[in-house]
Amino acid sequence: MKGDAAGRDAYPHADLGAVPARGPRRPARIIAIDGPAGSGKSTTARAVAAELQLPHLDSGSLYRAVTWALLQGGVPEAEWANLDPEEVRALGLRLDPASPQEPGGPPRFRVEVDGRDPGEALRSVRVTQRVSTAAAIPAVRTALLQLQRDTARRTGVVADGRDMGTVVFPDADLKIFLVADPEERARRRLLQEGREVSPINLARERALLEARDRRDSGRETAPLVQATDAVRLDTTGMDFREQVEEILRLARTPLDP
Ligand code: DC
Repeated sequence: MKGDAAGRDAYPHADLGAVPARGPRRPARIIAIDGPAGSGKSTTARAVAAELQLPHLDSGSLYRAVTWALLQGGVPEAEWANLDPEEVRALGLRLDPASPQEPGGPPRFRVEVDGRDPGEALRSVRVTQRVSTAAAIPAVRTALLQLQRDTARRTGVVADGRDMGTVVFPDADLKIFLVADPEERARRRLLQEGREVSPINLARERALLEARDRRDSGRETAPLVQATDAVRLDTTGMDFREQVEEILRLARTPLDP
């Protein structure tokens, strides 16, 4: 499936023409990194962005912010599917340019909901368990589409998510699709969260990741799928630095005119 074809099917009413244009022979300014849960997209995107001094956009945090706002607002989950894009916009999501999270880190965008920073609540179990439900709602995706494009157009971006290369930035200068074995993704998740890498934890984490993969790939609107023009990078046997270096190499290769 061609990248922008996926977009048009998913958003019949959205203005998909208004995307940043691909320029001739310049280093990549919009880099789209997609892949399944736990493939290391966000950490990789952050490191690539820091090297290139481009802002980092973690698009998953937007879907998490919508989920958080709906839960905070007491909107019953059974009613989420009936939301329209205006109601989602009324939640007051904004992406603000913020200072780096750590010294030497990339500039980034911080999500605000109605003037508030949800902070660590975005990663809470309560939000994580419901975010794929919110992310499957067409109105939510339509509302977030323009927000992401408007933000990136001004600055360039390294964006990670599930539909960066297929829907949000079909003309991205570089598209990467990151994959790794489920067992390896589960192991990385446990290490990242400082949990014991025991067989039982591995099995549980793997089952959770695979369930999320199924929901993200199986939904009708903007499912997780590799764009035809994305570079597939299997990081199972790679260490973190190698995968970052490989993406930087691709990003620095002059683009075809
Ligand atoms: O990357 P993450 O775990 O923070 O993503 C949270 C959820 O949001 C995940 O279930 C998939 C969804 N998501 C999406 O549908 N599209 C994106 N561009 C990013 C995330």
